[in-house]
Amino acid sequence: MITLGIESSCDETAVAIITDTGKILSHQLITQYKEHSLYGGVVPEIASRAHLEYIDKLINKSLTEANITINDIDIFASGAGPGLIGGLIVGLNIAKSLAFALKKPFIAVNHLEAHALMPKFFNKELTFPYLLLLASGGHTQILIVKGVGDYELLGTTIDDACGECFDKVAKMLGWEYMGGKYIEEFAQNGNPNAFDFPRPLIYSKDCNFSFSGLKTSVRQTIEKIGSNMTDKIKSDICASFQSAICDIIEKKFKTALKQIQNKNIKYIVASGGVARNQKIRDTLNKIAQNNHIQTIFAEPQYCSDNGVMIAFAGQENYKKGNISNYDITPRPRWPLQELKNE
Ligand code: KG4
Ligand code: ZN
Repeated sequence: MITLGIESSCDETAVAIITDTGKILSHQLITQYKEHSLYGGVVPEIASRAHLEYIDKLINKSLTEANITINDIDIFASGAGPGLIGGLIVGLNIAKSLAFALKKPFIAVNHLEAHALMPKFFNKELTFPYLLLLASGGHTQILIVKGVGDYELLGTTIDDACGECFDKVAKMLGWEYMGGKYIEEFAQNGNPNAFDFPRPLIYSKDCNFSFSGLKTSVRQTIEKIGSNMTDKIKSDICASFQSAICDIIEKKFKTALKQIQNKNIKYIVASGGVARNQKIRDTLNKIAQNNHIQTIFAEPQYCSDNGVMIAFAGQENYKKGNISNYDITPRPRWPLQELKNE
C-alpha cells in the first residue's frame, strides 16, 4: 500500500510517498525561507501563493524520486488543520482532486496528530499509550497518546507556544524568523546561570505552560544591555533562556507523571520543531531515567513539518477506516481531543 502525503499548513511545502512497510520512497520539501524572511515572520497570503506555485512540481518530483506513477498511489492524504487556512486549502484540494479523479481514498489529516504519531514511524517498538511533548511554533502540549485518534490533553500553553517564544527571543537578538536553532547554537558557548529568568507557572499544580512572562523578562534584559551587547552576552542570554525552558518542561513532566501513575505509560516521546533541541531532549531523558521509562524522539528532520508525517498519519487513519468525505473543509483550529468524537 502506497500513500502520498501533502503538508502545506504553514511555511513548508512538503510531499512524501511512503509504503505501509515503513519505507520512504520519496521526501520532498521546500522551506519558504526566502519568501518570508524579509518580513520577519510568515505572511499567510504569501505562504498560500508559494504553496500553489510549488505543490505540483513537488508531487511530480516525488513520483520521479519514488519511480512510480500517480496511478500507483493507493491513498492520498493532506494536512487539513490546524494551520493557516490559505495553505491548507491548497494541499487539501489537490489531495482531494487527485483522490477523486483516480477513485482512491482521501484522508484529511490533523497536523498535530501527524506530529504525535511521527515517532512511531521510525520506532516500531513504540506502543500506546505514551506521554507526548508536542512543542512547535504554534503549540505546546503534554498529551497521553492512547491510540490513533485518541488523545488526552494534560496541559497546554495559556499564552505563547514554546517555539513562538524561542522565535521571539531569537528576533530580539537579531536572528531571522524561526530562530530557535540559533538560540540552541549560541547557548552552547553560554553560561546557563548568567541570567536568572523567571520560570512562569512552575509552582502551579497543573501541567499548563506560560511563556509570555519569560519572553518579556528576556526583552527587558536585552533592552537594559542595549549597545553593550556582545556575542558572549548573547550566548549567556541564550543559555539562561534555554535553561529556564528546560526547567519549566521538567517540572511539568514531573507533574504529568504523577498524574498518570497506573496508566501503564512506558515511553516519553517528543515531537514538533522544538523537540529538535538537544537540551530539551536531555531534560526528558533525565526525567525518563528517574522514572524507569524510555524516551523516543522523532528524527530531528522529522520533528519539524514534513510530508512523511502526513502520509504516515493518513495511512494509520486509513487502517482504522477513517476515510474522509470530499466535503471536508480546512480547519485552522482543530484540537486533537476532538478527533475521538468525530
Ligand atoms: O513543528 P514546526 O516545524 O512547525 C510548526 O508546526 O510550528 O516547528 C517550528 C518551531 C519554530 O518555532 C522553531 O524556532 C522551532 O520549532 N525550533 C527549535 C529548534 N529548531 C526548530 N526550537 C528550539 N531549538 C531548536 N533547535
Ligand atoms: Zn507542525
